[in-house]
Amino acid sequence: MRPSVSQTKAQLKNITSRILSSETSFIELKDTLDEFKRFLTQVTELNLEASVFSENVHLKEGKAIATKWAAMCVEDLIRTQRFISAVKKAIEDALRENPEKPVNLLYAGTGPFATLVLPLTTVFSASELQLHLIEVNELSIRNARELFRKLELNDYVKEWHHADASTIELPETNVDIVLVECLQHALLREPQVAITLNLVNQLPTEVILIPKQIRLHLAVVNSKLQYEFHTSLEPSSHEFYTIAGEVFSIEKSNARNPEELLQSRKLQLDEDTLNFGDHLSVFTEMKLYDDVFLNFNESGLTLPLTIGQVPGNVKQLEVSAKYLMGEDPRLDFTL
Ligand SMILES: C[S@@+](CC[C@H](N)C(=O)[O-])C[C@H]1O[C@@H](n2cnc3c(N)ncnc32)[C@H](O)[C@@H]1O
Repeated sequence: MRPSVSQTKAQLKNITSRILSSETSFIELKDTLDEFKRFLTQVTELNLEASVFSENVHLKEGKAIATKWAAMCVEDLIRTQRFISAVKKAIEDALRENPEKPVNLLYAGTGPFATLVLPLTTVFSASELQLHLIEVNELSIRNARELFRKLELNDYVKEWHHADASTIELPETNVDIVLVECLQHALLREPQVAITLNLVNQLPTEVILIPKQIRLHLAVVNSKLQYEFHTSLEPSSHEFYTIAGEVFSIEKSNARNPEELLQSRKLQLDEDTLNFGDHLSVFTEMKLYDDVFLNFNESGLTLPLTIGQVPGNVKQLEVSAKYLMGEDPRLDFTL
């Protein structure tokens, strides 16, 4: 016999409390998010193995990943847990600030499950939380709508937009929180930057942006130490990289000033820094909200991206970096 809607919602509430609990161990978080993914696919009867769900959507400002890959993001454990916690904290703060009205949250790139807000419908009532949901992939938004319909959560949804969030003109700008999670490590390929620019510039100055800040750094990596770090059971006593400097960062203030945001930046790498390792990588870190961070290596979104070898026989290296927008967004380096 199929469970009733209230039984299904009780299961979601139980999963949510485990995701948010500080008592949940890493192994328990893995089990919880496996159960969450099974829950999400079972409720909507989504067969992710069908080939149609593996087709990416190519946009003018980057790639919108296919339903299957967007669904897999749930499994990026620390990412999922930290984003949901950050969004919960931001909603609590916005409610404290203005208890008389619901918090309006705009979520760009919901994927097939609106993963980063769906659990919070078990924490907040519809009179506290109203959602504006944007997704460009038709199959993903169709599935997300079906999920909300089946769980009888439509009273949380102010509007669904099957649209490109990097170009959409928002019909409703009464938004307290804007959540954008359309990115890969090093802000590669996906349109996070273009979406943030488009949305932030249409919204009130006091809007809360999540992630609050994304920073990219250039680092020199020592392959041997990196190998030891990944294979040793003992906690490493020293880092396998040295940070040369920040090469890009995006937050609300510079998103309002794209010219400044997209300026090229120069770094001088000295002999000690160059001698530390053998290759250059981009390291990503994020402040999601308040004291919630995603640090280097904690998630697929913050794994280092190798960009080249450290040139031999040089005592100094000037590197310039510039973030390029367009169909294939990325940090571009000149050594
Ligand atoms: C990395 S997935 C993350 C899915 C979901 N936010 C999660 O956390 O599990 C990014 C999602 O954003 C969508 N997306 C990418 N670019 C978009 C755009 N320009 N407008 C709307 N949605 C977009 C993709 O189709 C995909 O579903």
